[in-house]
Amino acid sequence: YSELDPALCKELRKIVEALTAPGKGLLACDESPSSLEDRFSELGVENNENSRRDYREMLFTADKCQLSQYISGVILHHETVYQKSTDGIELTEVLRQSNVIPGIKVDKGLLPLFGAKNENTTEGLDNLQERCIQYKHDGCHFTKWRCTYTISETTPSLLAMVANANVLARYATICQSARMVPIIEPEILNTGDYGINRALEVHEEVYSVLFRTLHEHHVYLEGAILKPAMVLPGVQSSTNCTPQIIAEHTLTALQRTVPPAVPAVLFLSGGQSDKDSVVNLNAINAYEGKKPWTLSFCYGRALQNTAMSTWKGKRENASKAQAVLLERAKLCSEAALGVSES
Ligand code: 13P
Repeated sequence: YSELDPALCKELRKIVEALTAPGKGLLACDESPSSLEDRFSELGVENNENSRRDYREMLFTADKCQLSQYISGVILHHETVYQKSTDGIELTEVLRQSNVIPGIKVDKGLLPLFGAKNENTTEGLDNLQERCIQYKHDGCHFTKWRCTYTISETTPSLLAMVANANVLARYATICQSARMVPIIEPEILNTGDYGINRALEVHEEVYSVLFRTLHEHHVYLEGAILKPAMVLPGVQSSTNCTPQIIAEHTLTALQRTVPPAVPAVLFLSGGQSDKDSVVNLNAINAYEGKKPWTLSFCYGRALQNTAMSTWKGKRENASKAQAVLLERAKLCSEAALGVSES
């Protein structure tokens, strides 16, 4: 059960509904300045406040009508929330004018989980309610928090699953208290040498601990979104699975652990190729079986890779890069409806 005020529940459900409209998904462009460093330097782009602003402005000013046809919301980094376009308009306002909802990554990154071997947890709970109240005031309506898990013979440990579930649950209740929809991201990384059955086992365990804990913390599930990885064999294994097998295993893990009260499951792309991220999402939606949630995308790299490398930091490449972004977004949108032909 939830202890939230009915008016607050209604507000959260309304935000979820707008974010998960049919055929729409989210663009995650909340990379920290340091994680953009590698990607920008590969392209010879200097990484500074202005170049990051130019890049994000290029993405957000892609054709208004088309962008909002495929993208309902964008996850921002703190810096972007307080940046203005070259015309002096706040970037959050640029998004709103395109009918796209601004959201904000509120975790402060990974840190070692002492007591476990080579596993992480995520920090950022300090002052989280105050930060969320401020972000809501400044125009953001949803948040994201990412915990990661690695698959090996001994991991994820029960300690990591329990600790991260508690962190995610605390995050979710705090955000909901500040009228923000939490996107709960338990990212099971696909690095390692294991087959898809081992991945399925881990996904089931992680989500079952997570939802038990969300229940204990009285998270309002109808006002939250799950952002998981798809169930895939490890990248170091030589196994190749068809999209149908990936869809079957991903849906099995979700069916066994995620309550139908959760309105939407928005997948991360997790380093899959642009093509795979579309084909696999399409297979998930085309798969016949129980699917009580909206199944769509919240992609970072799979939406941005080609747009960024087309842009290359040059204003004259902006419209070409925007066309590339819209093309990727359209393909993801079709996959979210299960009607992609690619
Ligand atoms: P990818 O789609 O590139 O995995 O990123 C999504 C994201 O927001 C990770 O936190």
